[in-house]
Amino acid sequence: MSARGEIVRLAGPTVIARGLAQAGLNEVVWVGEERLLSEVIRIEGDLATVQVYEETAGLALGEPVEAAGEPLAAELGPGLLGRIFDGVLRPLAALAEKQGDFVGRGVRLPSLDRAVRYDFHPEVREGDEIAPGTRIGVALDPDGVQHPVLAPPATGGRAVQVRAGPAAVDDPVIRLDGGATVALAHRWPVRRPRPFRRRLASDVPFLTGQRVLDCFFPVVAGGTAMIPGGFGTGKTVLEQSLAKYADADVVVYVGCGERGNEMAEVIDEFPRLEDPRTGRPLMERTVMVVNTSNMPVAAREASMYTGITIAEYFRDMGLAVALMIDSTSRWAEALREISARLEEMPGEEGYPTYLASRLARFYERAGRVETLGGAEGAVTVVGAVSPPGGDLSEPVTQCSLRATGALSALSADLAHRRHYPAIDWGVSFSLDAGRLAAWFEREAGQGFGGLREEAMRLLQREREILEVAELVGTESLQDAERLVLESARLLREGFLRQSAYDPADASCPPAKAFEMLRLFLEFHGRAASAVGQGVPLRSVLDAGVGPKLLRLTQVTPDEMPRAGEVLRAEMGEALARLEAE
Ligand SMILES: Nc1ncnc2c1ncn2[C@@H]1O[C@H](COP(=O)(O)OP(=O)(O)O)[C@@H](O)[C@H]1O
Ligand SMILES: [Mg+2]
Repeated sequence: MSARGEIVRLAGPTVIARGLAQAGLNEVVWVGEERLLSEVIRIEGDLATVQVYEETAGLALGEPVEAAGEPLAAELGPGLLGRIFDGVLRPLAALAEKQGDFVGRGVRLPSLDRAVRYDFHPEVREGDEIAPGTRIGVALDPDGVQHPVLAPPATGGRAVQVRAGPAAVDDPVIRLDGGATVALAHRWPVRRPRPFRRRLASDVPFLTGQRVLDCFFPVVAGGTAMIPGGFGTGKTVLEQSLAKYADADVVVYVGCGERGNEMAEVIDEFPRLEDPRTGRPLMERTVMVVNTSNMPVAAREASMYTGITIAEYFRDMGLAVALMIDSTSRWAEALREISARLEEMPGEEGYPTYLASRLARFYERAGRVETLGGAEGAVTVVGAVSPPGGDLSEPVTQCSLRATGALSALSADLAHRRHYPAIDWGVSFSLDAGRLAAWFEREAGQGFGGLREEAMRLLQREREILEVAELVGTESLQDAERLVLESARLLREGFLRQSAYDPADASCPPAKAFEMLRLFLEFHGRAASAVGQGVPLRSVLDAGVGPKLLRLTQVTPDEMPRAGEVLRAEMGEALARLEAE
């Protein structure tokens, strides 16, 4: 049966065990008398190296080690939404009740609560052929919320018994002719991507509600983006804004290894956030996987995989899922620590040489797909990176760059000037922008692509002029150049800047963003032509259009078309008057 062995060496969060030769790589093993959750990470002859997901202090040589017979797996089923788990999917709230505030060792709590009775409404009948991924029914929880139930990826056959009515997550509700059963929940190994029929091309955006992202650095639904930024540049606030406002049916938030107090804030705040779309608690469509830096590194390393496995589970129901990770650097550091314990040959800055391939394989699990059941689902992944000192040349940033489709680099300089989100438009890019051009023309407004380029050129001109001004002084600038500086300033402060704490502006739909951008650039165009005709810049600026542009953030999306027309007319009149003088 399952292999049993004993501990022969202890090395921090890893132990070496003898007698586990039957166990496979990545198999779960229970370590010690307390049966600590662990995973085999190397096998050499009769010796297995095992990483322990729990605090290892107090383990002794000779204690037993037993293989569980399966790889590290997540339990997927109704009851995930709205919950907070640790990196190996143990429910944190339940653990806290059982253990006080700290997650105790050897506590084995199932991810999903066995005590909850769901009301199962089958949608298949006895005799029906059930293929992997088929929707077999819905489970109603005690609050009446419906949870779709799908046959797991590897399970299929003819239904010989179908049971409606009350069921716990692990009760079999369907028996197949081969003898296999389907329950409301199933397990899936976290390191193995869940299968789908085929990948679908994506030409629709993952809308974020952040103007600078949606307009300048948009990501496709099912795409990947990375957000590198030094300490305090706004990674966590941005990831949370995305969790709140991005266009997703389900959000999986992986809080990975950031300091305990920061994570505590997130855990404290998140459940109180309101879903702007429904007014209901945001947690109802959120699953949180959290590991603070004081939790064992191995669990931190696992948490990204746990998170994406949950995301794929909801994708397979035909949903749009957003996976937020804050931060992938802490995951990479966990990987580095484990690699060092294994005495592997270190690569750059001590990270293992397979850092790049691990990250690439991870981000490959994002995508828009046709599911096994024939639905369309997507997982979009946004990974924060915390490069030490904000230095983008470090390995985790560089490896992520190669693995993702978009970069939104946060700048300490912008954050210092309290320009939030501190996305550096000079450095950031999106490989998806071209593919999304048609969508934005159609849905946000015709001419969108042109406006985007014009805005970028204006910001670029600002940089160039400022560089010159630094050398020769601002006195030497022409009015036309000063106007560029003024228009760019307005664009930065009234368009790119967007406070996460301003209820009127925390999220901006693309049509409003389009109209705003059009007005900013129309102002610049009209003003440039007035200045070209000899109107002094001072008079142009005194016409009072600037402050009105800056107030557009406060206009509701519904009022925007009308407000735009009014401002456009005022702007035209004021500048025409100046030109006539
Ligand atoms: N979009 C934003 N709008 C308003 N303030 C922000 C925004 N992003 C960041 N901030 C400010 O910057 C601080 C640090 O942001 P945080 O996300 O915690 O940084 P990081 O996670 O990169 O260390 C926040 O507490 C907040 O005051
Ligand atoms: Mg943070």
